[in-house]
Amino acid sequence: MKLSNSIIILMIAVVNISCKRLPIVLNTWSFTNATIKAWDVAYREQRSAIDAVEEGCTVCEVEQCDTDVGYGGSPDEHGETTLDSMIMDGKTMKVGAVAGLRNIKEAISVARRVFEQTKHTLLAGDAATEFAVQMGFKKQSLSTSFNEEVINEWKNRNCQPNYWQNVLPSPEESCGPYKKIESVQESNEIENGMSFVNEQSHDTIGMLVIDINGNIAAGTSTNGLTYKIPGRVGDSPIPGSGAYADNSAGGAVATGDGDIIMRFGASFLGVEFLRNGYRPQQAAEMVIDRINKYYPARSAAILIVDMEGNYGSACQIFRSFPISIYHSELNEVKVETISCRQLEDDTPGSGSFLDANNILLVGAAILYAKIL
Ligand SMILES: *[C@@H]1O[C@H](CO)[C@@H](O)[C@H](O)[C@H]1NC(C)=O
Repeated sequence: MKLSNSIIILMIAVVNISCKRLPIVLNTWSFTNATIKAWDVAYREQRSAIDAVEEGCTVCEVEQCDTDVGYGGSPDEHGETTLDSMIMDGKTMKVGAVAGLRNIKEAISVARRVFEQTKHTLLAGDAATEFAVQMGFKKQSLSTSFNEEVINEWKNRNCQPNYWQNVLPSPEESCGPYKKIESVQESNEIENGMSFVNEQSHDTIGMLVIDINGNIAAGTSTNGLTYKIPGRVGDSPIPGSGAYADNSAGGAVATGDGDIIMRFGASFLGVEFLRNGYRPQQAAEMVIDRINKYYPARSAAILIVDMEGNYGSACQIFRSFPISIYHSELNEVKVETISCRQLEDDTPGSGSFLDANNILLVGAAILYAKIL
């Protein structure tokens, strides 16, 4: 009797181990062709997570996912498309990244060359293009007639919206060139400007893969923000901001208003919450809580996975945040969508304010109202 009990327990233990949903592929938005490609690499071909992330994100660069990844989209003020990308190996903690990459389409493959062929982590601008050409990539224009249309329409709207402040002529009314206002009044106000970054300009593919050997990799690829000031780089190529992966804890990818996300090291923060014992869903909500405290009106979304393939996501200001998933318990790619926390919204699931302290406060307020 005792013996058979132990055998059953042993069997349950074995079943549990094989129930890890590995390999698993997750990425931001409903960019499912990228998910399927990464799944083919990680599952059918049984190759590494880093290969799966590179080849999955490349699909988006070629398909120009929502015109927010790859060539011909999100032109800067001059009408040029530049690319930001990063790839990170959670087994070795190696990272390669490119920022403001010009005239090369294969951003994530160039990013990988940075850590494979150099001892650097991040290359930027024209010199990154030179590096890419040296590594055998073809130099070609990333600008399309779509870019030209977008920027011509923008100029006809007096360059609205744009990302300038504290300059003259007033950036709310006029195009540049601008000059700085000499004495800017110090403002301690929490920045309340709404994000321009919405569903139509949501910019980034962020991908997480855990392979059959239990190694995790993360990657991003984007062409950044439409109407950005030339030279602007977002969170995507910054390790710990746009993505992070560490075999000893898990991985995270972020998307949204990259100028804000990078101020919080959002992906690193999410992975550290995992390391401290929080579940992926809690960790994701805590990252959005952190951003929300300072920038409640700016769009942000995060996707987090632990090393067992459990995942969670949270977001704000975007209306909703779809993620694409493929793992060993699914027969096809799946898209799961959560709705995002809005201004004045504290519903659970989008980053809840209803912790124990606040419940006490609400209780006290109700009591007080009754007494009155
Ligand atoms: C995804 O791949 C299929 C099959 O190759 C193709 O028909 C479809 O257009 C692709 N989707 C996008 C959004 O490019």
